[in-house]
Amino acid sequence: MKLKAIEQGDIGLSASFENGAESLYPYIWLRDNDPSGFHPDTKERTFDLTSVALDIRPHNVRFTADSLSLEWPGSDSTCTFDADWLFRHRLGTRRFDPANVMQKTWSADSLGELPRFHAKDCRDDPRQLAAMLHAFKQIGIVVIDRLADDPHSGERFGDLIGFKRETNYGVMFEVKNKPDPINLAYTALSLPLHTDLANQELIPGAQFLHCIVNGADGGDSVFADGFQVCRDLADEEPDVFDVLKKFSVPWRFYDESCDLIARWPVIRQKDDGQFDALTFNAHLADIPDLEPDDMVTFYAAYQNLMRRIRSDRYRFEYRLEPGEMVIMANRRVLHGRTGFDPNSGPRHLRGYYIDWNEIDSRLRVLYREYPETAPHLPA
Ligand code: OGA
Ligand code: ZN
Repeated sequence: MKLKAIEQGDIGLSASFENGAESLYPYIWLRDNDPSGFHPDTKERTFDLTSVALDIRPHNVRFTADSLSLEWPGSDSTCTFDADWLFRHRLGTRRFDPANVMQKTWSADSLGELPRFHAKDCRDDPRQLAAMLHAFKQIGIVVIDRLADDPHSGERFGDLIGFKRETNYGVMFEVKNKPDPINLAYTALSLPLHTDLANQELIPGAQFLHCIVNGADGGDSVFADGFQVCRDLADEEPDVFDVLKKFSVPWRFYDESCDLIARWPVIRQKDDGQFDALTFNAHLADIPDLEPDDMVTFYAAYQNLMRRIRSDRYRFEYRLEPGEMVIMANRRVLHGRTGFDPNSGPRHLRGYYIDWNEIDSRLRVLYREYPETAPHLPA
């Protein structure tokens, strides 16, 4: 974007761009973000903010359509900002981010089908991988199919995205009916809709469940979009919604080797009104410890949410086939399963977590090489 005009004001420089956009850049901000204040190799900031006065002003300002050059007191070199860079960093506007994908909430009817991608396509074509990650960010759930007939193929697929998150269940966890289970998922019981690991300081961002075998009677998967539930609750019973946002309650998992506790409200919302997280796991709810009056209020809201979550309005059933892997936004999409008969056949899923940081990083890196992978964003 070309620069059209630069004006010096009291606190900073006002820039106008050829498309009519404008921004004011405070002098201290320009000094701190001088491109020469970053290490050329590591790209990390090396400039020391305490080395200059807060009211610093450039003593020489020049610009062309393509760049802005400043000279600062105490520095011999001229600092040059690229016009495109200034445009992208207009203050007060949200920066272009290829990982910034609008969420589309869904209910059982509106979803239709789960978004589906072939493992090989994602592996062979980075654009397909990006398309898959977009769909995942938008809908909060995707199915990867045609994974190789190998118990490690789902695990390897995760390497296309980023580092796996280790928890007390290990990096990889085996979801099957086991003797001495440490988690209800490792039984044949039905699992009501829940999000995983509410008891963690950072609740894992995405859960991956690779189906190795699903040969037992029962064991169908169930999913629901927690953000749709939150949206409907906010519209229909705002008081209940507010209670679930207001009170933090403890969530806990403990066994012989660990005792993991975290406090979270059930609903978290961002400043811009978008939903940030739904944390709901009846099995991990620790003994709530609110004041008695608050406790009664909380229970009413919590039970209300629990009933809503179970409603057919949200419940999407799907039977995972061997060679498929479901990926869920764990702080948004609830998952569960129907009970199964372990004597009727084997059932084995292999799971792991990857955090959003990794997923977003992959999208940004893919975008560097394949800008067309972010068609939803303005260039
Ligand atoms: C889990 C879980 C569901 C299933 O492992 O967290 O909820 O289908 N599993 O077994
Ligand atoms: Zn689970």
